[in-house]
Amino acid sequence: MAKRKRKRNAVAAPPSEPPVRPGIIGLSRTVPAGIVKPPYADSGEPGPSVSSLVRTPAELDAMRKAGAIAAEVLIHAGSFVEPGIATDKIDEIVHNETIRRGAYPSPLNYRGFRKSVCTSVNEVICHGIPDTRQLLDGDIINIDVTVYIDGVHGDNSCTFLVGDVDALSRGLVTETYVSMMEGIKTVRNGSKVHDIGRAIERHARAHNLGVVREFIGHGVGTEFHSDLQIPHYYDPRARTELTTGMTFTVEPMLTLGDPSLYLWDDDWTALTMDGRRSAQFEHTLVVTDSGHELLTVASDGTTAAELYAPKPVEAVK
Ligand code: MF3
Ligand code: CO
Ligand code: CO
Repeated sequence: MAKRKRKRNAVAAPPSEPPVRPGIIGLSRTVPAGIVKPPYADSGEPGPSVSSLVRTPAELDAMRKAGAIAAEVLIHAGSFVEPGIATDKIDEIVHNETIRRGAYPSPLNYRGFRKSVCTSVNEVICHGIPDTRQLLDGDIINIDVTVYIDGVHGDNSCTFLVGDVDALSRGLVTETYVSMMEGIKTVRNGSKVHDIGRAIERHARAHNLGVVREFIGHGVGTEFHSDLQIPHYYDPRARTELTTGMTFTVEPMLTLGDPSLYLWDDDWTALTMDGRRSAQFEHTLVVTDSGHELLTVASDGTTAAELYAPKPVEAVK
Protein backbone atom coordinates (compact mmCIF):
# COMPACT_ATOMS: atom_id res chain seq x y z
CA MET A 1 0.00 0.00 0.00
CA ALA A 2 1.36 3.39 -0.94
CA LYS A 3 2.19 5.73 1.91
CA ARG A 4 0.10 8.83 1.88
CA LYS A 5 0.92 11.95 3.76
CA ARG A 6 -1.85 12.81 6.15
CA LYS A 7 -2.47 16.43 6.93
CA ARG A 8 -1.58 17.34 10.53
CA ASN A 9 -4.66 17.74 12.68
CA ALA A 10 -6.84 16.20 10.00
CA VAL A 11 -8.13 13.75 12.59
CA ALA A 12 -9.25 15.07 15.95
CA ALA A 13 -7.14 13.45 18.65
CA PRO A 14 -8.97 12.08 21.66
CA PRO A 15 -9.10 14.09 24.88
CA SER A 16 -7.36 12.85 28.00
CA GLU A 17 -9.17 9.80 29.38
CA PRO A 18 -10.78 9.79 31.83
CA PRO A 19 -11.38 13.51 32.40
CA VAL A 20 -10.07 14.97 35.65
CA ARG A 21 -12.94 15.53 38.08
CA PRO A 22 -12.86 17.50 41.34
CA GLY A 23 -12.21 15.50 44.50
CA ILE A 24 -12.84 16.57 48.07
CA ILE A 25 -10.71 19.46 49.33
CA GLY A 26 -9.54 19.06 52.91
CA LEU A 27 -8.95 21.73 55.51
CA SER A 28 -6.26 24.35 55.02
CA ARG A 29 -3.04 23.41 56.79
CA THR A 30 -1.71 25.47 59.67
CA VAL A 31 1.61 27.26 59.92
CA PRO A 32 3.52 27.38 63.24
CA ALA A 33 3.75 30.74 65.01
CA GLY A 34 7.51 30.98 64.42
CA ILE A 35 7.15 31.20 60.62
CA VAL A 36 6.96 34.79 59.32
CA LYS A 37 3.87 35.17 57.14
CA PRO A 38 3.46 37.34 54.05
CA PRO A 39 1.14 40.37 54.47
CA TYR A 40 -1.87 38.64 52.81
CA ALA A 41 -1.74 35.49 54.95
CA ASP A 42 -4.54 36.50 57.31
CA SER A 43 -6.77 38.66 55.10
CA GLY A 44 -6.26 36.74 51.85
CA GLU A 45 -5.83 40.04 50.04
CA PRO A 46 -2.40 41.03 48.70
CA GLY A 47 -3.62 44.54 47.80
CA PRO A 48 -2.23 46.59 44.94
CA SER A 49 1.34 46.04 43.79
CA VAL A 50 3.65 48.72 45.16
CA SER A 51 7.08 47.10 44.87
CA SER A 52 9.90 48.26 42.63
CA LEU A 53 10.64 46.04 39.62
CA VAL A 54 14.34 46.03 40.56
CA ARG A 55 15.76 44.27 43.62
CA THR A 56 18.36 45.62 46.03
CA PRO A 57 21.47 43.46 46.56
CA ALA A 58 20.11 42.41 49.98
CA GLU A 59 16.76 41.43 48.46
CA LEU A 60 18.58 39.47 45.78
CA ASP A 61 20.49 37.51 48.40
CA ALA A 62 17.20 36.72 50.10
CA MET A 63 15.74 35.63 46.76
CA ARG A 64 18.65 33.25 46.17
CA LYS A 65 17.78 31.64 49.49
CA ALA A 66 14.01 31.59 48.84
CA GLY A 67 14.63 30.27 45.32
CA ALA A 68 16.86 27.46 46.58
CA ILE A 69 14.25 26.42 49.13
CA ALA A 70 11.48 26.53 46.52
CA ALA A 71 13.60 24.35 44.21
CA GLU A 72 14.48 21.87 46.95
CA VAL A 73 10.87 21.57 48.11
CA LEU A 74 9.79 20.96 44.50
CA ILE A 75 12.47 18.28 44.03
CA HIS A 76 11.39 16.68 47.32
CA ALA A 77 7.73 16.66 46.22
CA GLY A 78 8.69 15.17 42.86
CA SER A 79 10.24 12.14 44.56
CA PHE A 80 6.76 11.19 45.83
CA VAL A 81 5.00 11.32 42.47
CA GLU A 82 3.69 7.84 41.67
CA PRO A 83 0.37 6.17 40.88
CA GLY A 84 -1.94 6.13 43.90
CA ILE A 85 -0.76 9.25 45.72
CA ALA A 86 -3.50 11.84 46.32
CA THR A 87 -2.76 15.42 45.35
CA ASP A 88 -3.67 16.41 48.92
CA LYS A 89 -0.82 14.18 50.12
CA ILE A 90 1.49 16.21 47.86
CA ASP A 91 0.07 19.32 49.56
CA GLU A 92 0.95 17.86 52.95
CA ILE A 93 4.48 17.01 51.78
CA VAL A 94 5.07 20.48 50.31
CA HIS A 95 3.55 22.21 53.33
CA ASN A 96 5.62 20.28 55.86
CA GLU A 97 8.87 20.51 53.92
CA THR A 98 8.40 24.27 53.44
CA ILE A 99 7.84 25.01 57.13
CA ARG A 100 10.60 22.59 58.12
CA ARG A 101 12.92 24.92 56.21
CA GLY A 102 11.55 27.98 58.01
CA ALA A 103 9.49 29.29 55.08
CA TYR A 104 5.80 30.01 54.47
CA PRO A 105 4.00 28.24 51.58
CA SER A 106 3.02 31.30 49.53
CA PRO A 107 -0.19 29.92 47.94
CA LEU A 108 -1.82 29.40 51.38
CA ASN A 109 -4.67 31.97 51.58
CA TYR A 110 -3.26 33.96 48.65
CA ARG A 111 -6.46 35.56 47.30
CA GLY A 112 -8.27 32.90 49.33
CA PHE A 113 -6.47 29.86 47.83
CA ARG A 114 -7.06 27.12 50.41
CA LYS A 115 -3.99 24.92 49.97
CA SER A 116 -0.20 25.23 50.15
CA VAL A 117 0.70 24.26 46.57
CA CYS A 118 -0.95 24.01 43.14
CA THR A 119 -1.29 20.54 41.61
CA SER A 120 -2.47 20.47 37.98
CA VAL A 121 -3.15 17.09 36.38
CA ASN A 122 -3.47 16.31 32.64
CA GLU A 123 -5.90 18.82 31.05
CA VAL A 124 -5.71 21.07 34.11
CA ILE A 125 -3.59 23.99 32.91
CA CYS A 126 -2.75 25.57 36.26
CA HIS A 127 -3.99 26.44 39.78
CA GLY A 128 -5.33 22.96 40.48
CA ILE A 129 -6.33 22.68 44.15
CA PRO A 130 -4.95 19.60 45.92
CA ASP A 131 -7.76 17.19 46.80
CA THR A 132 -8.54 13.50 47.30
CA ARG A 133 -7.95 12.56 43.63
CA GLN A 134 -5.23 9.94 43.34
CA LEU A 135 -2.70 10.01 40.52
CA LEU A 136 -3.21 7.35 37.86
CA ASP A 137 -0.57 5.54 35.85
CA GLY A 138 -0.07 7.61 32.70
CA ASP A 139 -1.04 11.00 34.22
CA ILE A 140 1.13 14.09 34.05
CA ILE A 141 1.11 16.51 36.97
CA ASN A 142 2.46 20.01 37.39
CA ILE A 143 3.46 20.88 40.95
CA ASP A 144 3.88 24.62 41.47
CA VAL A 145 5.79 25.47 44.65
CA THR A 146 6.21 29.01 45.95
CA VAL A 147 7.81 29.83 49.30
CA TYR A 148 8.17 33.05 51.29
CA ILE A 149 11.14 33.64 53.58
CA ASP A 150 13.14 36.70 54.67
CA GLY A 151 10.58 38.97 53.02
CA VAL A 152 10.68 37.52 49.49
CA HIS A 153 9.13 34.76 47.36
CA GLY A 154 10.68 32.07 45.17
CA ASP A 155 8.29 30.54 42.60
CA ASN A 156 8.92 27.44 40.48
CA SER A 157 7.13 24.48 38.96
CA CYS A 158 7.77 21.25 37.10
CA THR A 159 5.58 18.78 35.25
CA PHE A 160 6.21 15.20 36.40
CA LEU A 161 5.36 11.92 34.66
CA VAL A 162 3.26 9.43 36.63
CA GLY A 163 4.38 5.89 35.81
CA ASP A 164 4.17 4.95 32.15
CA VAL A 165 3.21 8.04 30.09
CA ASP A 166 2.35 7.97 26.37
CA ALA A 167 4.86 9.37 23.88
CA LEU A 168 2.69 12.34 22.82
CA SER A 169 2.37 13.53 26.43
CA ARG A 170 6.09 12.98 27.05
CA GLY A 171 6.82 15.13 24.01
CA LEU A 172 4.51 17.84 25.34
CA VAL A 173 6.33 17.87 28.67
CA THR A 174 9.79 17.87 27.08
CA GLU A 175 9.03 20.67 24.63
CA THR A 176 7.33 22.78 27.29
CA TYR A 177 10.54 22.66 29.30
CA VAL A 178 12.64 23.45 26.24
CA SER A 179 10.34 26.38 25.37
CA MET A 180 10.77 27.86 28.84
CA MET A 181 14.54 27.62 28.51
CA GLU A 182 14.40 29.18 25.02
CA GLY A 183 12.44 32.09 26.48
CA ILE A 184 14.84 32.47 29.41
CA LYS A 185 17.85 32.43 27.05
CA THR A 186 16.76 35.76 25.54
CA VAL A 187 16.94 37.53 28.92
CA ARG A 188 19.74 40.06 29.49
CA ASN A 189 20.10 43.72 30.43
CA GLY A 190 18.58 45.60 27.47
CA SER A 191 16.44 42.80 26.01
CA LYS A 192 12.68 43.26 25.69
CA VAL A 193 9.89 41.45 27.51
CA HIS A 194 8.44 40.36 24.15
CA ASP A 195 11.67 38.56 23.19
CA ILE A 196 10.76 35.94 25.80
CA GLY A 197 7.29 35.20 24.44
CA ARG A 198 8.51 35.28 20.86
CA ALA A 199 11.06 32.52 21.58
CA ILE A 200 8.54 30.43 23.51
CA GLU A 201 5.85 30.74 20.87
CA ARG A 202 8.28 29.94 18.07
CA HIS A 203 9.32 26.74 19.79
CA ALA A 204 5.73 25.76 20.57
CA ARG A 205 4.67 26.36 16.99
CA ALA A 206 7.54 24.27 15.64
CA HIS A 207 6.19 21.37 17.69
CA ASN A 208 2.53 22.03 16.86
CA LEU A 209 1.71 22.94 20.46
CA GLY A 210 -0.63 25.66 21.73
CA VAL A 211 0.41 28.51 24.04
CA VAL A 212 -1.94 29.56 26.85
CA ARG A 213 -2.56 33.32 26.76
CA GLU A 214 -4.66 33.96 29.87
CA PHE A 215 -1.88 33.22 32.38
CA ILE A 216 1.49 34.88 32.13
CA GLY A 217 4.81 35.22 33.95
CA HIS A 218 5.05 37.96 36.55
CA GLY A 219 7.34 40.12 38.59
CA VAL A 220 8.15 38.36 41.87
CA GLY A 221 10.16 39.44 44.89
CA THR A 222 8.82 41.12 47.99
CA GLU A 223 5.40 40.50 46.40
CA PHE A 224 4.14 37.14 45.05
CA HIS A 225 2.85 38.84 41.88
CA SER A 226 4.10 42.32 41.08
CA ASP A 227 3.38 44.54 38.11
CA LEU A 228 5.77 43.22 35.46
CA GLN A 229 3.85 41.01 33.01
CA ILE A 230 5.57 38.35 30.91
CA PRO A 231 3.37 36.91 28.12
CA HIS A 232 4.47 33.52 26.78
CA TYR A 233 3.42 34.44 23.23
CA TYR A 234 4.67 37.25 21.02
CA ASP A 235 2.95 40.46 22.08
CA PRO A 236 4.39 43.41 20.14
CA ARG A 237 3.10 45.75 22.88
CA ALA A 238 5.33 44.11 25.51
CA ARG A 239 8.18 46.49 24.75
CA THR A 240 9.34 46.99 28.33
CA GLU A 241 13.12 46.82 28.48
CA LEU A 242 14.58 44.37 30.96
CA THR A 243 17.28 45.85 33.16
CA THR A 244 19.78 44.41 35.60
CA GLY A 245 18.18 43.52 38.93
CA MET A 246 14.63 42.87 37.68
CA THR A 247 13.20 39.62 39.04
CA PHE A 248 10.31 37.74 37.45
CA THR A 249 9.06 34.32 36.43
CA VAL A 250 8.89 32.59 33.07
CA GLU A 251 6.22 29.88 33.25
CA PRO A 252 4.80 28.81 29.88
CA MET A 253 1.76 26.53 29.71
CA LEU A 254 1.72 24.59 26.42
CA THR A 255 -1.13 22.44 25.12
CA LEU A 256 -1.46 19.45 22.79
CA GLY A 257 -4.62 20.99 21.32
CA ASP A 258 -6.33 24.35 21.44
CA PRO A 259 -5.13 26.52 24.35
CA SER A 260 -8.62 27.96 25.11
CA LEU A 261 -9.55 27.42 28.73
CA TYR A 262 -12.37 27.51 31.24
CA LEU A 263 -12.48 27.54 35.05
CA TRP A 264 -14.22 25.15 37.39
CA ASP A 265 -16.77 26.61 39.83
CA ASP A 266 -13.97 26.84 42.42
CA ASP A 267 -12.81 29.86 40.37
CA TRP A 268 -9.21 28.58 40.38
CA THR A 269 -8.83 25.35 38.43
CA ALA A 270 -8.12 26.22 34.78
CA LEU A 271 -8.65 23.49 32.17
CA THR A 272 -8.39 23.19 28.42
CA MET A 273 -11.79 23.48 26.71
CA ASP A 274 -10.98 20.55 24.43
CA GLY A 275 -9.89 18.26 27.27
CA ARG A 276 -6.45 17.67 25.81
CA ARG A 277 -3.36 17.86 28.00
CA SER A 278 -1.33 20.86 29.10
CA ALA A 279 2.15 21.07 30.65
CA GLN A 280 4.02 23.85 32.44
CA PHE A 281 7.44 24.67 33.83
CA GLU A 282 8.45 27.73 35.83
CA HIS A 283 11.60 29.43 37.06
CA THR A 284 12.22 32.65 38.96
CA LEU A 285 15.18 34.59 37.56
CA VAL A 286 17.04 37.88 37.81
CA VAL A 287 18.33 39.96 34.91
CA THR A 288 22.10 40.52 34.93
CA ASP A 289 24.39 42.69 32.77
CA SER A 290 25.51 39.72 30.71
CA GLY A 291 22.32 37.62 30.82
CA HIS A 292 20.40 36.24 33.74
CA GLU A 293 20.73 34.10 36.83
CA LEU A 294 18.21 31.38 37.70
CA LEU A 295 17.13 31.79 41.32
CA THR A 296 15.04 28.63 41.68
CA VAL A 297 17.99 26.25 41.76
CA ALA A 298 18.80 23.86 44.62
CA SER A 299 21.92 24.62 46.66
CA ASP A 300 23.71 21.76 44.85
CA GLY A 301 22.94 23.41 41.49
CA THR A 302 20.17 21.06 40.34
CA THR A 303 16.58 21.79 39.33
CA ALA A 304 13.49 19.61 39.41
CA ALA A 305 13.21 19.76 35.62
CA GLU A 306 16.79 18.57 35.10
CA LEU A 307 16.10 15.65 37.40
CA TYR A 308 12.60 14.74 36.25
CA ALA A 309 11.65 16.20 32.86
CA PRO A 310 11.89 13.66 30.02
CA LYS A 311 14.84 14.34 27.74
CA PRO A 312 14.37 15.15 24.07
CA VAL A 313 14.87 12.03 21.95
CA GLU A 314 15.99 11.68 18.35
CA ALA A 315 12.92 12.13 16.19
CA VAL A 316 11.81 8.76 14.81
CA LYS A 317 12.49 8.84 11.09
N1 MF3 B 1 2.56 29.83 41.72
C1 MF3 B 1 1.56 30.36 40.83
C2 MF3 B 1 2.30 31.20 39.81
O1 MF3 B 1 3.17 30.69 39.21
C3 MF3 B 1 0.51 31.18 41.50
C4 MF3 B 1 -0.38 30.40 42.37
S1 MF3 B 1 -1.51 31.45 43.09
C5 MF3 B 1 -2.29 30.41 44.13
O2 MF3 B 1 2.14 32.37 39.65
F1 MF3 B 1 -3.01 31.14 44.88
F2 MF3 B 1 -2.99 29.56 43.42
F3 MF3 B 1 -1.41 29.75 44.82
CO1 CO C 1 4.54 32.24 38.99
CO1 CO D 1 4.24 29.28 40.33
